[in-house]
Formats: sequence, C-alpha cells, structure tokens
Amino acid sequence: ATTPAGFLRLAEDIAREAGDMLLAKRPAMSTRSADIQTKSSPTDVVTVLDRASEQLIRERILAVRPGDRILGEEEGDHPGETDVRWVVDPIDGTVNFLYGLSDWAVSIAVEVRGRVVAGVVNAAARGEVFTAAVGEGAWLGGERLRCNPAVPLGQALVATGFGYDAARRAVQAEVLTAVLPRVRDIRRGGSCAVDLCSVACGRVDAYYERGVNYWDYAAAGLVAAEAGARIGGLNGRPYNGDLTLCAAPGLFEDLHDLLVPLDPERDA
Ligand code: IPD
Ligand code: CA
Ligand code: CA
Ligand code: CA
Repeated sequence: ATTPAGFLRLAEDIAREAGDMLLAKRPAMSTRSADIQTKSSPTDVVTVLDRASEQLIRERILAVRPGDRILGEEEGDHPGETDVRWVVDPIDGTVNFLYGLSDWAVSIAVEVRGRVVAGVVNAAARGEVFTAAVGEGAWLGGERLRCNPAVPLGQALVATGFGYDAARRAVQAEVLTAVLPRVRDIRRGGSCAVDLCSVACGRVDAYYERGVNYWDYAAAGLVAAEAGARIGGLNGRPYNGDLTLCAAPGLFEDLHDLLVPLDPERDA
C-alpha cells in the first residue's frame, strides 16, 4: 500500500473510523463540562475527544505501519524510521464541534519524503469525506471536484479564519475591515480544512488566513490543489503558517495583491 492511492485508502479508513467515534460520543459533551481544557489562550479549547480521536488515529496507523512518523496537533511528533510521515488534526474546528455546529473535520495527510501524496478530510457531521491523491484529482464521494473559475474580486465569496491569540486577532480584524468592502462577502466557517475543501468544491471562491498550522491544511491543501486551486503564501513564500491563501489562478493573484499591503509583516 505504498502508492498514493494505497496511502489514501488507509488514511480514509482511519479518518472514517475516527469520525464515527466522534459522532457517537459528541452528544454527551457540553460547553460547560469537565471534558474541556484551554491551551494557549482562553479561546483555545481542547476536549477529551480531540485527544481520543488522535489516539485512535495513532494506534491505527502504527498497527499497520509501525515505522512511520506521525505529527499531530495534540500529541506532537512521534519518531519513526521510514520516509513516511502522517500529519493529523484529530478535530479541525474544535469550537464548532463543542457547540454542535457541523463544520468540523478529521484531517489526515500522508507525506512521503516531505511531500503530501494523499489527504482526507472527513467532515463527519456533514456526511462528507473529501479525498485527494497526488495527480489523481480531488473527490467528494464519487464526484470529481473543480474549484470555481476566477471571478473579479468584487464578486468573490471569501472564507477566512482567526487565530486564538488576542493580539493576532486585533490585526486580523484590521485586515478584515479592509477586505470586506472589496469582496462579495466573507464567511468564517470555523475549520481551515473544511474552508479549503469548500474552495475545492466551489462553495466559496477563496480562502485566506494568517497563522494556521501545518496539520490544519496539510490534507485539505492537496484537495484544493487537485481541484485546480492555487495555494500559497504572500510574495511567493510557501504557505507555512505565515499567510495561507487559496483560490483559482487569477483570483489568487487579485486577492494576493489586496492582502500584501495589509500584511503586518511586510517590512519584516
Ligand atoms: C482551528 C480552525 C479554525 C482556524 C484556526 C485553527 P482547531 O483549528 O481551523 O478555523 O481559524 O486558526 O487553529 O484548533 O479547531 O483544530
Ligand atoms: Ca486546536
Ligand atoms: Ca486545526
Ligand atoms: Ca484540532
């Protein structure tokens, strides 16, 4: 199972099992329960089910491929000796999950020698599993995905998100103030992975966010790219947690040029 398609099958099986577990156990959670802790700030929550999901995913991967590395949001780096690394967000969109909103997903990407070759985003509460293997397209079930063709900025529906740090949020609010009058409208879905899959299937035209982590977009970035979207950072930089931008070629450049002068790190 060492082809991209083989990795995708395994990743999809595991993401489906984790999603089923989360759907079964979520009703017992509440926003006030002892099952919730905060991490970097009071807005940055983690639940026992984020941890349970990551543990399940790790066990399943290592049962089949004991030598692989794993990077996950809640448990960090698991060392290994193969050239394969799994990148896991056990719940992307924890706040939505906690409140019973449906935009959250289990995200699993498979890297070979540093390059993502397969990605699955299981938006379990929506009943939607987005998949991609490199060179083999992006799929939602049996449907092959294409992002929307480029539109003028003023007709673009743009998704974005906000980090958990208050100072970063203040800057994000300023950028948003400048972007909102220039676009059709803004959506804040609450899951970076679902947002990128929404670009892939044309539910929004574009997505941008500053400060996302690799596990947020590793799988969904491949889904978007395989659906024909361009994904990258500002000024040709890679999308490495700096600013992540995704849209059809043409709209990507227009949104890029709008965001560059607003970039708080433009002089850095
Ligand atoms: C968050 C979500 C959210 C984005 C944040 C992420 P988490 O991930 O993707 O949409 O705005 O930047 O940290 O913490 O729910 O896995
Ligand atoms: Ca988190
Ligand atoms: Ca995440
Ligand atoms: Ca998460």
